[in-house]
Amino acid sequence: MLDKIKALQQEIENVTASTPEEVEMLRIKYISKKGSISQLFADFKNVPDNQKKEVGKELNLLKVFAVDRINKLREGFMAKEPEGGDTDVTRPGEPFRPGTRHPLSLVKNEIIRIFGRLGFTVAEGPEIEDDWHVFSALNFPPEHPARDMQDTFFISRNPDVLLRTHTSSVQIRVMERTQPPIRAIFPGRVFRNEAISARSHCIFHQVEGLYVDENVSFADLKQTLLYFARELFGENTRIRLRPSYFPFTEPSAEMDVSCSICGGKGCNVCKYSGWLEILGCGMVDPNVLEACNIDSNKYTGFAFGMGIERITMLRYGIKDIRHFFENDIRFLRQFESTF
Ligand code: DAH
Repeated sequence: MLDKIKALQQEIENVTASTPEEVEMLRIKYISKKGSISQLFADFKNVPDNQKKEVGKELNLLKVFAVDRINKLREGFMAKEPEGGDTDVTRPGEPFRPGTRHPLSLVKNEIIRIFGRLGFTVAEGPEIEDDWHVFSALNFPPEHPARDMQDTFFISRNPDVLLRTHTSSVQIRVMERTQPPIRAIFPGRVFRNEAISARSHCIFHQVEGLYVDENVSFADLKQTLLYFARELFGENTRIRLRPSYFPFTEPSAEMDVSCSICGGKGCNVCKYSGWLEILGCGMVDPNVLEACNIDSNKYTGFAFGMGIERITMLRYGIKDIRHFFENDIRFLRQFESTF
């Protein structure tokens, strides 16, 4: 039996075929139900028990070998793809859609350009901050609620490692390393421990502004912000400053612009008031200047801070802040640069 297996193996090794039909004939001859290998399997019952193990193994190997050999021969006749496949090289290519900028980037860049025309440069600071730059140097009293875990994300158990809750921290970084005149804006990402909803998010963006020099007055602040509002929202825009409170400015104010949707007549965006609140501002508190080793008898300054999301939502009529962070391509594609 072992001899027969060996002989058959050699025979199959040497077979050739010049047409697919010949391959089929070989298949029938060797591995079909009536083929010679099946015949050997039928004879297997006559093999003495003590040889069954070895013979069985060889027989199985032979069958695997034969199936493989015949498959290989068959593959040799498979229709070969013509060179280049069925590609039509004359067909026009798929157009690449150019990417679009994120709406927050568009508005941020526009804000940078507007203040750039007034001589403001751009600076940035770290997102991971310490208590001094986010709170203490900005004249927050030790018990101020913003320091609370509820409002601020702390990174470790160390209460001195936290995510900045506003870009006002960059004011301190810049004043610590430069003496006036300082005229710069600071765009960046900020973090607050807030529930996510259509109106608020735990991550958002601000642009901070700072102008410190001799004789900087509240009138300078007002004129700067009026110019900014008209450049961003249109030349007929009016502004209104309402008294407010921030620890780092004195006096402090909040600025409204006349509603860019209804022109001030009243609509559902401005809640029929005709005004939209867009930023906080004020004269830099002397304590803040002193914390940065700037002589508050010689210098005065103004500062302001605004949320980029809010302005972008007003600019484009976006109703839900969460769109900005979901990166849905159908949302993002709508913002070709309109500036
Ligand atoms: N830091 C304030 C906030 O996050 C915004 C702000 C208000 C910034 C008044 C200022 C300012 O520079 O003068 O709400």
